[in-house]
Amino acid sequence: MKKLIIGITGSIAAFKTVQFISDLVKEKYEIEVMLTPSAAKFVTPTSISALTKKKTYIDVFDDDPGCITHVDIVKDADLFMIVPASATTIAKCANGIADNMLTAAFLAATCPKLIAPAMNVHMFENKATQRNIQTLKDDGVLFVEPAVGLLACGDTGKGKLADYDHLHLMMEYALSDHPLQGKKVLVTAGPTQESLDPVRFLTNHSSGKMGYSIARAAFILGATVRLIHGPTSLKPVPYIINQSITSTQDLFECVKRHHTHYDYIIMSAAVADYTPVKTSTEKIKKNDNELILKLKKNPDILDYIGHHQVEHQVICGFAMETQDLIENASKKLNKKQCDLIIANHLKTEGAGFQGDTNVVTIITQDSMKDIDKMSKSDLSYIILKECMKIGAKK
Ligand code: PMT
Repeated sequence: MKKLIIGITGSIAAFKTVQFISDLVKEKYEIEVMLTPSAAKFVTPTSISALTKKKTYIDVFDDDPGCITHVDIVKDADLFMIVPASATTIAKCANGIADNMLTAAFLAATCPKLIAPAMNVHMFENKATQRNIQTLKDDGVLFVEPAVGLLACGDTGKGKLADYDHLHLMMEYALSDHPLQGKKVLVTAGPTQESLDPVRFLTNHSSGKMGYSIARAAFILGATVRLIHGPTSLKPVPYIINQSITSTQDLFECVKRHHTHYDYIIMSAAVADYTPVKTSTEKIKKNDNELILKLKKNPDILDYIGHHQVEHQVICGFAMETQDLIENASKKLNKKQCDLIIANHLKTEGAGFQGDTNVVTIITQDSMKDIDKMSKSDLSYIILKECMKIGAKK
């Protein structure tokens, strides 16, 4: 279980951290919380302790019996976060001032540190604050940039506490040891749409969840990530390049433009094999009892990049089959010249489209590994680990 120290400072955004803590407790992190005296005017130790089931610290002399809390509590911490961080606390941390439990513990901590500022736009943009932030960045402290918007004081600008998605993703990034640092990962995700006329298209059931999870995991592991995705209802993944496409041809053009620059390519998009020969410029009228659509073959993108693979590159395909899955997936691995293929057990409960879980077999040139039902998020790390194993040998 990872241990997080969460510091809260005097900012109106402090109430959001209470919800954040509640979510993290459910995710089974071990959490210790420290408030500055100003933070205790916005949120109470009582509400936080009710969530963490632990003491919430404020005063630097508020030691537990037999220990020097600000030193001992951080010794085995995996991450120290300050959410939200006021201008004052940032200034103190940048200058090694340790005059309350939070700032003293921050100075004593040797684990990774992450700061999420929240304050008035002019306080944030002030040269003194920017100088202090730069000092902390130079010392290796990570930051979650504040968002731009209407602030509690009535001003508009940069200073809002970053939203949950940014905070959580950066927290996971800070907890990782970044085995993909310096690597570039390209992921395709979601369905494609092939237009029949101005109001209709051919598509499939892909939600994009599998590919978005892989892109997220690749970022957390330290990679620079490009996610090329078809139409989905998912929110963009923070901190990566999110690029949207519609048709298979769009996806092909986009992949062709970028594939040679990437160390790892993971093709989890569900791509239409066929597209209408002709897209009608007007809505197709309902006349006869039957309508025959004439389709032509789309380019096979995985096949193209497999046959144009650059040195040291690892290419991972997916396979979607309803019959003879392993046999057909293995054929795809060889025909499309990829390094590994993820075969979805479509007919197994909890696998395939739309859900949050998947059941797959990972097939490489010399191995086959069955992976029981698990979250698409956990599976993403397994897929990336397999890719890295192959990458290390190239
Ligand atoms: O998005 P979710 O709802 O989370 O669902 C995830 C998923 C089930 C869609 C995903 O895990 C998956 O299996 N994606 C690949 C689906 C697919 O297109 O399979 P396929 O067997 O038809 O294609 C084999 C491989 O070739 C795939 O990597 C595909 O991206 C690629 N392909 C296919 C056709 C084509 N014209 N060009 C391609 O590049």
